[in-house]
Amino acid sequence: MATYELPDLPYDYDALEPSIDARIMELHHDKHHQGYVDGANAALDKLETMRENDEWGDVKGVERNLAFNLSGHVNHSVFWENMSPDGGGEPGGELADALDEHFGGFDQFKSHFSEAAKGVEGSGWGLLLYDHAAGKPIVSMAENHQNQSPQGATPLLVLDVWEHAYYLQYENNRGEYVDNFWDVVNWDDVAERYDRASTWTLSGTE
Ligand SMILES: [Fe+2]
Repeated sequence: MATYELPDLPYDYDALEPSIDARIMELHHDKHHQGYVDGANAALDKLETMRENDEWGDVKGVERNLAFNLSGHVNHSVFWENMSPDGGGEPGGELADALDEHFGGFDQFKSHFSEAAKGVEGSGWGLLLYDHAAGKPIVSMAENHQNQSPQGATPLLVLDVWEHAYYLQYENNRGEYVDNFWDVVNWDDVAERYDRASTWTLSGTE
């Protein structure tokens, strides 16, 4: 029994058009995300074998594979849920209050997140995270799936800016892809993630 499994998309491949084409969604979910799931499971299996044999020669490479592939699995799992054919608009609830308090308002948050996503060097992600150290949301830019992004933070809203996420439709125009992403953001999902994440900090339960 594999530890990690590919989740079903919560909508059809073409549900996010015109923001994201059906073919991108099909390849992205069925091939790319599946690859990260398989890679994370393979890394766990190798680590189990290393423990059984007490042979640790490649531990650095395998742990690196686990971090990369598991982070890819986590980011994509959140990404699918963060979008909806009924998405767009602005958030409500405590999330809206938090964005006002910590970013100066929704528009300023949106600009910050967009610029972060557009500015990722090479392959990576723009992320809105709940920082459990400070007990507040922050924006982060991850290279690959996990590099340059802080520990101790829960993803609330993530945007894949790897070329596999947009190139078939947008070619080299990452900026247009990022701008059109806002039309499919499922704010109810993001707000629920905020409500769950904000119940604890590194020092304990709120
Ligand atoms: Fe991706």
